[in-house]
Amino acid sequence: MSITKESFGKTSDGQNVDLYTLTNSNGLKTKIITFGGYIISLQVPDRNGKFADIVLGYDTLEQYVNDSTYLGSLIGRFGNRVAKGKFTLNSIEYTLATNNGPNHLHGGIKGFNKVVWNAQPIDDPNRPGLKLTYLSKDGEEGFPGNLSCTVIYTLTNNNELKISYEATTDKATIVNLTSHGYFNLAGHNSGDILGHELMINADNYTPADETLIPTGQIAPVKGTNVDFTKSTAIGARIAKVTGGYDHNFVLNNKKGKLGLAARVCEPKTGRVMEIHTTEPGIQFYSGNFLDGSAKGKGAVYNKHNGFCLETQHFPDSPNKPNFPSVVLKPCEKYTHLTVHKFSVK
Ligand code: GLA
Repeated sequence: MSITKESFGKTSDGQNVDLYTLTNSNGLKTKIITFGGYIISLQVPDRNGKFADIVLGYDTLEQYVNDSTYLGSLIGRFGNRVAKGKFTLNSIEYTLATNNGPNHLHGGIKGFNKVVWNAQPIDDPNRPGLKLTYLSKDGEEGFPGNLSCTVIYTLTNNNELKISYEATTDKATIVNLTSHGYFNLAGHNSGDILGHELMINADNYTPADETLIPTGQIAPVKGTNVDFTKSTAIGARIAKVTGGYDHNFVLNNKKGKLGLAARVCEPKTGRVMEIHTTEPGIQFYSGNFLDGSAKGKGAVYNKHNGFCLETQHFPDSPNKPNFPSVVLKPCEKYTHLTVHKFSVK
């Protein structure tokens, strides 16, 4: 078990970027950079004990700086979409960048995926960890309040990658932090993920318009092509879903309690990833916008070559009073824990 540090280069404005490698007692290994908190590699074994890197990623800092697919980054302040980039809080209307058609996406032009985080290694013999902190200033990307954020990545000896998030503010604001890993449990360079079997612990989802803004309805998945209550191959019905999967699911879990969100199994290698979270929702995105322009680690990432399961509050929550609140007030603390547990079948 260990945590090691090396340099990953310098940003054009002269900030040093480091790469941390966390290894557990079973040989699982993950690499995280302080730019955007990107997970750039994650090595886990298959049913024969053979390790593979199961996250899509690039080779150089420059590629991460220019990345527009959020290929493994942290996301903030607000993950997913805010309709027309507008929301009102305490009678004040705030305007965010509209960087996804008419809407705001993933924190704006320079979201948490584009900043250098402060890092502090946690050299616990049983669970190496990396603590990242970032102070997002009042008004940054249009959001109110100085938001002080902490994200801790931990690799346990139970083969879990834990991501815990905390944030506090000095003015009422909105927060929705997540991690945007693209997984391919057969190995990042193994082509499409359509054969992966996916179960999502959600009886309901939030139907959305063509710009992916929820209508506000919470609808049953039963009888639809987004019913993953029983483990189903991602590719089984994808042709019937316009554009592929990019849906937010309403998890069956108890409010704020860590519960099972999803289980993914890759039948050829036997690799299984279970996701547990305290968040109310999860966005399942089937890598629809990957088009071969993202290349890294010797691979070219084409459509559906990776999938994302982003634990989060629901899209456009700031404008949907019936969705769980994303408002954070001074004196309150935002917390979010997500655990990725790896095993084999
Ligand atoms: C999220 C969104 C997708 C897409 C990706 C990034 O998963 O829901 O629509 O924007 O991020 O490409």
